[in-house]
Amino acid sequence: SVYTASTTAPVNIATLKYWGKRDKTLNLPTNSSISVTLAQDDLRTLTSVATSKSFSEDQLWLNGKLESLESERTQHCLQDLRNLRAKLESGDSSLPPMSTWKLHIVSENNFPTAAGLASSAAGFAALVVAIAKLYQLPESASEISKIARKGSGSACRSVFGGYVAWEMGSEADGSDSKAVEVAPQSHWPEMKAAILVVSAAKKDTPSTSGMQHTVTTSDLFQQRIHNVVPQRFEEMKKSIQDRDFDLFAELTMRDSNSFHATCLDSYPPIFYMNDTSRQIVKLCHQINEFFNKTIVAYTFDAGPNAVLYYLQENETKLMAFIHQVFQRNSGWESKFSKQDLAAFD
Ligand code: DP6
Repeated sequence: SVYTASTTAPVNIATLKYWGKRDKTLNLPTNSSISVTLAQDDLRTLTSVATSKSFSEDQLWLNGKLESLESERTQHCLQDLRNLRAKLESGDSSLPPMSTWKLHIVSENNFPTAAGLASSAAGFAALVVAIAKLYQLPESASEISKIARKGSGSACRSVFGGYVAWEMGSEADGSDSKAVEVAPQSHWPEMKAAILVVSAAKKDTPSTSGMQHTVTTSDLFQQRIHNVVPQRFEEMKKSIQDRDFDLFAELTMRDSNSFHATCLDSYPPIFYMNDTSRQIVKLCHQINEFFNKTIVAYTFDAGPNAVLYYLQENETKLMAFIHQVFQRNSGWESKFSKQDLAAFD
């Protein structure tokens, strides 16, 4: 017989960035991070897995295409899952010996790869959670997140929905480097995210090598991980618990800027943001200044696209404003007149 399971995992966008590893094989980070998971049905990976004694090899279909499962990271995840299943089987002889069987995996993203979004986080999270389900592993979500982490660091945060922290941990074997829930999505349902696609082109420096380059060459990076992030991690968790958008937004924007500053401080420097990205930063600050209130926060990952966070109540005025500015295709450099904006207030 064939056994199957499936699951979805959401895309997560860090509001406090993971940038730097202390262990490359285990994906152990040099700082804790926080993310806000986009709503499940918006941007997600759907993964179905099947296993049977009759399957002759492990196979993966990604968006309809047969892909290799050979990467060390994927093998690491599969091995961990099989070991946990084997442990279960050794204690209960009535269980089918799935740990020795091959897997067929079918994975689909509901967003275009060309949107320039990191799909590896949702991808590894969905893969690991689907197999954990198939194997009926009793481990908690945080425990399972440690396996997803070995696939891609940021993937551990996609094992949860809502507001998630990845605690960096201190153990050399990674046993305390895991994702935990800060709050469920329902705690602060008014929070919305918009992605401004600046460029769909593939990023020039992949995050894995980019962060290694920063760790080994940037002085500012040491300042960031030791003197900035630890306190920011606590403050950001509190801003979420208190639903304090003002504070959450400021910390998010500051952390994006801090991360990109360490990229610029790497030698030779890494540039992820481009002119349009910087214009979006400027525009967000102008909007907040204009309304005399923080209504929007930006954050940028290892590429030029912006993710904006805002509260539902401000969506209409924010989007009207952004459309207006983009359509005019000028005026980026100047501050907007009050008359210009009055129509959206
Ligand atoms: C800028 O998780 O893709 O998006 O662990 O090497 O797979 P690996 O890196 P990855 O890095 C993500 C970097 C980031 C920040 C973040 O998501 O926290």
